Amino acid sequence: MKRPIAQFAATGRGIPERVMTNHDFASIGIETSDEWIVERTGIRERHIAAPGETTCTMAAAAARQAMERAGVHAGDLDMIVLSTATTDRLLPSTAVDLQAELGATRAAAFDISAACAGFIYGTSVAEAMIAAGSAETVLVVGAERMSSIIDWTDRATCVLFGDGAGAAIVRPAKQGRGILGSFIRSDGALANLLYRPAGGAAHPFDEQVLNDRSFYVKMAGREVFKHAVRSMAEACDRALDAAKLTSADIDLLIPHQANVRIIEATAKHANMPMDKVYVNVDRYGNTSSASIPIALDEAIETGRVQEGSTVLLVGFGAGFTWGSMVVRF
Ligand SMILES: CC(C)(COP(=O)(O)OP(=O)(O)OC[C@H]1O[C@@H](n2cnc3c(N)ncnc32)[C@H](O)[C@@H]1OP(=O)(O)O)[C@@H](O)C(=O)NCCC(=O)NCCS
Repeated sequence: MKRPIAQFAATGRGIPERVMTNHDFASIGIETSDEWIVERTGIRERHIAAPGETTCTMAAAAARQAMERAGVHAGDLDMIVLSTATTDRLLPSTAVDLQAELGATRAAAFDISAACAGFIYGTSVAEAMIAAGSAETVLVVGAERMSSIIDWTDRATCVLFGDGAGAAIVRPAKQGRGILGSFIRSDGALANLLYRPAGGAAHPFDEQVLNDRSFYVKMAGREVFKHAVRSMAEACDRALDAAKLTSADIDLLIPHQANVRIIEATAKHANMPMDKVYVNVDRYGNTSSASIPIALDEAIETGRVQEGSTVLLVGFGAGFTWGSMVVRF
């Protein structure tokens, strides 16, 4: 086992108040049913941001909670790494908006784009900056307003996603606690299985994009499902190998919350019984890069992660990107 370099000092979450249940899709003319959605995905409801509630405001709520719990002031932050697929504006980053909102005047702030694996990527960047001696106190955030980028007329995708943010303060490890092993990987050859075809610089927004609705998320659901299961399984193995541990050493598996069937397949591969797996996809849907920090924050708050707990985080998303991390708390 390597000596940990960085650890999570505290976490927080920022969740919109408004809840949309599976039954509510009927009121917006979507032909679906609670039974179909629950059976295929395990999702029962999701939180949806109100007008004025942005990626930045949710990120700020999560960040403030994590900072307060860690006893960190805005002026202590050396760096803000914000993962999002739903940047509030195309330029500049949402991380700089968050920096201004928090008053973190000493920090370098930037966004990363690694979709649902973004919190693992962001934490890996924080760990590397701490290892290099370039930062001591890093705010890592996963924040998503997925409701802004999904096609509310496409029942195959609109039922899957939700809004929210999760945050963590990452600091130098103490007393052997922290990140014991991690792994990140991508495969851009598969990008078009889950993507927004247009609206970016290669195909800027125009009338055709508007008519085709090609600025919304498009997904080949079945293909994504297969790759998610395969990649999350690989990621579990790689982080455990890096930490020189086995699944018997893991107290809690916290997977990305996209679909309960993907979670169950990941748990089965990792040889983890479901009572050692954190599941909240039923209440949040898929909040992309916010899903792992939201779940981690809930797991800490409810005592499922305690001092001394060893936790395996694993994520997968558009890109494809995937990654994992073994953490001792
Ligand atoms: C999206 C997903 C739930 C669809 O489940 P599936 O079993 O693969 O279903 P299919 O896409 O094959 O569709 C089956 C049928 O259900 C229909 N359907 C799709 N969405 C529906 C909905 N919300 N309600 C009712 N029916 C729906 C389809 O139209 C299709 O009908 P048809 O056979 O008459 O054409 C599943 O593929 C999945 O979860 N994929 C991974 C998605 C994901 O997690 N992405 C994010 C990764 S980070």
